[in-house]
Amino acid sequence: MSTLTTPTSLHTPAVGTAHTRIEGRDKVTGAARYAGEVPFANLAYGWLVLSTVARGRIRDLDTDPVLAMPGVLAVLDHRNAPRLHTDYTSLLGMRPDLTCAVFQHDRVPYLGWPVALVVAETSEQAREAAEALVVHYEQEPHDIEFGAERPDAYPAAGHMPAVTEKGDLDAELAASAVVVDAEYSTPEEHHNPMEPHAATAHWDGGRLEVIDSNQGATWVVGELANLFSLDPASVRVRSEHVGGGFGSKGVRAHQVAAVMAATVLGRPVRVVLTRRQMFSLAGYRSPTAQRVRLGADADGHLRALEHRSVSLTSTVYEFVEPSAGVARVMYDAGAHHTANRVVRLDVPTPTYMRAPGEAPGSFALEAALDELAEKCGLDPIELRLRNEPDKGPVSGLPFAGRNLAACFREGARRFGWADRDPRPGLRRDGRWLLGTGTAAASFPAGAQPSTATATAHPDGTFTVRISAADIGTGARTALTLVAADALRTAPERVRVRIGDSDFGPAMIAGGSMGTRSWSWAVRVAAGDLLERLALGDGIPPQGITVRSDTTEAVGALAAAERHSFGAQFAEVAVDVSTGEVRVRRMLGIFAAGPIVNPLTARGQLLGGMIWGISMALHEEAVRDRASGGHVGADLAGYHVATHADVPRIEADWIEDTDPDDPVGIKGIGEVGIVGAAAAVANAVWHATGVRHRALPIRPDRVLSAARQKPTDGIRPAAAGAPDA
Ligand code: MOS
Repeated sequence: MSTLTTPTSLHTPAVGTAHTRIEGRDKVTGAARYAGEVPFANLAYGWLVLSTVARGRIRDLDTDPVLAMPGVLAVLDHRNAPRLHTDYTSLLGMRPDLTCAVFQHDRVPYLGWPVALVVAETSEQAREAAEALVVHYEQEPHDIEFGAERPDAYPAAGHMPAVTEKGDLDAELAASAVVVDAEYSTPEEHHNPMEPHAATAHWDGGRLEVIDSNQGATWVVGELANLFSLDPASVRVRSEHVGGGFGSKGVRAHQVAAVMAATVLGRPVRVVLTRRQMFSLAGYRSPTAQRVRLGADADGHLRALEHRSVSLTSTVYEFVEPSAGVARVMYDAGAHHTANRVVRLDVPTPTYMRAPGEAPGSFALEAALDELAEKCGLDPIELRLRNEPDKGPVSGLPFAGRNLAACFREGARRFGWADRDPRPGLRRDGRWLLGTGTAAASFPAGAQPSTATATAHPDGTFTVRISAADIGTGARTALTLVAADALRTAPERVRVRIGDSDFGPAMIAGGSMGTRSWSWAVRVAAGDLLERLALGDGIPPQGITVRSDTTEAVGALAAAERHSFGAQFAEVAVDVSTGEVRVRRMLGIFAAGPIVNPLTARGQLLGGMIWGISMALHEEAVRDRASGGHVGADLAGYHVATHADVPRIEADWIEDTDPDDPVGIKGIGEVGIVGAAAAVANAVWHATGVRHRALPIRPDRVLSAARQKPTDGIRPAAAGAPDA
C-alpha cells in the first residue's frame, strides 16, 4: 500500500482553512453543466401549460390544432397522461406533497396549476404551441383572502407539533408588570434561485434516468419511484450542479411531466420552468399573521409568552409555515403557549423556504422582545440575557451548547453597541434618521441518516461518493476538506463525487442538515477505510472501497436541544420624507459549530443576512383578488435585495464546540437569515420611534407612519405609534 494512505500525525487539518470552490473554475468558465443544458441526442422539449383560472374544472382542451403545429409531438393532459400512484409515505415519514402529481384529474386548485404539457422538437416550438393551446374551464369563485381573522384556520402540525401549552397564560399576563401584545405580518415570499428548475428524463435500457436540479437525488428517486410504481433501483437521478434551491428544489411538476413524456414518447424529454412559472410551480413561503403576547416583571423576566401564527396552504396539500416554533427554543416563561394554524385557500402549495418557520417567526418574536425592552427600560441585549433558559422551554431537554450570550457579547463589542442611546428618533445625518437594532437567531442542528463510500486507489488518491447536493453552498468543497482530514491526506488527493442517486441514500441539502449528516457518513467510511488499509494487504487496481451507513449512529444520538445560535445587528438610515430605508451596516455573530470552510461559510451566513435585509425591506408577492394570480410574477415586480442594497455587512463566528457530539459540525444554511429582518425592523424603530409590524417596511408604510406623527418622525421615547 502507498505510504500516503498511512495515518500520520503530520497531517495538517484542512477543516477550518479557507478553500475556494473545487468546481469554481468549471462554473465561471461555463464548463459546469446545469440540468437544462446537458446535451442529449434526440432530445424533445416539453412546455407546461398553466391554468388561467384560480378554481374550477377543465371542461376541454383544443389539442387538435396544437398537434398540427410545427414540430409538435404530443400534448399530455388529464385525459391521456399516465396514471400515478399517489398513496404512499414520503421523506421523513410525511405524506407526499401531491402538488407534483399533475394531469390526474380535471380539477383546477389554483391559478398556475399545470393543465397540459406540450412536447415538440424544439423548445421554441413547444412554447409557441403551449401558448396557442386553448383550454376551456368551468370557473368557480375562488377564495384567496388571507388574514389573522380567518375563522377556518385550524391547528396544523407539519414538521413540528401544532400547539404547545404550559401554564396559565391569562393569570401570568395579569400578574405581569409589563405587557406587550402585538400583531405582526409577513408577506408571501418566493425563493427565486438563480437557476430555474429543470429536468431531463429518459429511459436507458430499462432504467429511468433524470438529469435534474434538486436538493437531494435519492429523495427525488424515492418520490418518482413511488409515483410511477417503479423499483427505486431502476431510477437514477443526477444533479451535478445546482444553481440555488433554498427549499424549492424537491419533486415538482416539471420532473413528473418530463418522466411522463419520456415514457409516452420513448425519447429524452426536457422540461424547464420559466421565472414566471416558478411563481406558481416552485413553492414559496406562505404569508403569516402572527400575534405575540409577552408579560414580564419590571426587571424584564418573562412570566408569560404566547406566540400564535397563521399561515396558508393550498387545497392540494397541507404545508405549514411553523412560525411559532422558534419561541419553543428561545425563551421560557411561567406560562408558555405556541400555536401554528393554517387556512386552506385557492392558492399554490407553499413549501420549505430558507429557515421555514424561524425566518418569519423570529421577525415577530424578536421584534416583540425589542418592544418589551423598550417598555421595561432595558437594553434589548440585557433583556435577552436575563431570559436565557437553562433547558428547552417546551421540551425540558438540555441544550447541547447554547452560545447565544457569547454571540451577543462579541457582536456588541464589534458593533459598538455600548455607545447606543436607547431612546428612539434622536440621531440624524442630514435628511436621514439613524438607528440601530439587534435580534437573536437560532436554527436546529439536526442530522439524518446517510450513506457514503470511500475508495482508496493504488496511486495514493481517494474517491468519496455520497449523494449529497451542492446547491451553491460549497458542500462539495466542504466535504472534500472533511474527507481529507478523515483520510489523513491532503484535499488535492481526494475526489468527492456527489449529486448521483446511485451513490446511495443520503440526507438532502435541507434543514441545515446536509453538511452535518454527510460529514458523519464520510468520516465513518474514511475511518473504516483507513482501518482496512492498515491491514497492509495492498491496493488492487480497482481500489478498495468501504461503505458507511449512519442510520444506527444517528438513531443513538442522545435527545437534546441542538441548535446554532446567532446575534444580528443592523444600523439603518430612514428618510421620512421619501420613506426610504437604507441599511448602512450589518453584523452577524454566530455559534454554529466548528466551521468547515470559512470562505464558503461566510458566504452562506452573509447570504442569509442579505435575505433578511430583503425580507425586511423589499420582498413581497402580491396577489390580485380578481384573478387569484400574482401581480408582477417576475424579478421586476418582485423586489429582492441587490448589490446596491447590501451595505457594509460582516458575518463571523465564535468557538462553538461540543465534545459529546459525534460530528461537531452544525449547519449554516439557514441560521443567517433568522433574526435578520427583526434586527432591521428594530433599527427602524430606533431611528424613527415607529414600530413597523408589517413586512416589508415599504416607503409608503414609512411615509404614512410619519404622517401620523407630530414632527418628522422625531419624538421622545414614548410609546410607539400605531403600525402603518
Ligand atoms: Mo431548506 S428550506 O431546508 O432547503
